[in-house]
Parts: sequence; structure tokens; C-alpha cells
Amino acid sequence: MRFLQPPAIIELAGNYFFSNIFMDTITLKDRDFSLFITAGDIDKAVTVMAQQMNHDLQGKHPIFLVILSGAFVFAADLLRKIKTDCDVTFVRLSSYSGTQSTEKIRELLGLNEVLKDRTVVIVEDIIDTGHTMDDMIHKIRHLEAAEVKIATFLLKPAALRKDLKIHYVGMEIPNDFIVGYGLDYDGYGRNLPDIYKVVPE
Ligand code: IMP
Ligand code: MG
Repeated sequence: MRFLQPPAIIELAGNYFFSNIFMDTITLKDRDFSLFITAGDIDKAVTVMAQQMNHDLQGKHPIFLVILSGAFVFAADLLRKIKTDCDVTFVRLSSYSGTQSTEKIRELLGLNEVLKDRTVVIVEDIIDTGHTMDDMIHKIRHLEAAEVKIATFLLKPAALRKDLKIHYVGMEIPNDFIVGYGLDYDGYGRNLPDIYKVVPE
């Protein structure tokens, strides 16, 4: 029994090592996904975004408006790198089903904060067609924020259909469906620390 603890830890570490080196392709529900962006590269990109924001937003006491569910992981990483006083709130606005954008935008839920005269930073996991973000901007327009900035961790420039001024982008990616780091495929994969892209059928 004395030795139970150390081997268990080694085994855990071994599994983690194994999964990083050898398991670059995973299956979620009915599709295969291959490793695309590692947690280390994600962290570097989030750090750069936070540095830009720390510079731009200093003294403005911004409120971060995090779009659930996908952006919760990115927001948690980003907020811990923000060094100026800030506030955070969460809203829900979903448009996705499966791997196709439906363009059917649902209600904006959960916004109880007063945005009047505030610097608002909308925090999104990914901007694809831009319909969600465009809708979001229209929904908060009447709330008279002093300024509204858009921060998205990922952007698919080739998919963008809306004329949006996006202030902060972590990474630009090709027009492939991805999962991990908060992003899901029909309820699978949000918990993955790395980002994977779908393997074409
Ligand atoms: P848009 O309205 O087409 O810009 O899509 C925005 C939303 O769709 C994002 O907030 C995501 O929740 C979801 N989404 C877009 N692309 C992907 C993807 O590649 N994987 C998972 N979700 C995505
Ligand atoms: Mg999202």
C-alpha cells in the first residue's frame, strides 16, 4: 500500500504523455478529428491578445461580455491575463447545429448588466460567417455603451459574410470545422485542451 500513490501518478503522467505524442487523431461521436492547434500555441496567442488589451483598455474598467457556451474556456484564460480592473458577464446566443451554420439566431439571454457608457468587450470563441456577432452587436446597440470592441480567439476569414470591425483576433484559421478549447461538435469536445479539426469524410 505504501507504493500505491507513486505508481498511480506515474501512470497518469504516462497516459498524458502517451495521449500527446501518439493520439493525434480522435473520434468524437461519428467523426474523426486531427490535432490542429496545441494548448501551448493557444496559450501564446491568448497572451498576445491580453497584452494588446492591457495596453488599450487600461483605466477604462471594461466589461467583458462572454458569449456562452463556447467562449467560456477562452474567457477564463484571457481574463486571468488582464491586468486592469474589469468586470465580466455571460450571455447566451447560439446559432449552430452539427457542422453547418444554420443562420437561425436565438434570443440573447442573461444580459442583466447596465452597459450604458461602459467599454464593452464582446468575447467570442470563433467568428465563422459573422452572423452571430453581427446579431449580438445589433442586440446591444440600444444599450448605449461608450464603445464596443470585439475579441474572438479564432476567425475564419474565408467564411466571413458580415462587415465587422474585429479588434482582437487570436488566430486566423482555414474554413474547416474544429473542436476543443470550448468549441463543440454536437455536445462533444468542449473539454479538450487542444484544438482539433475535422477529418474530411
Ligand atoms: P457564425 O455566426 O457563423 O460566425 O458562428 C459563430 C458560432 O458558431 C460560434 O460562436 C461557434 O459557437 C459556432 N462555430 C463556428 N464555427 C465553428 C467550428 O468550427 N466549430 C465549432 N463551433 C463553431
Ligand atoms: Mg460561440
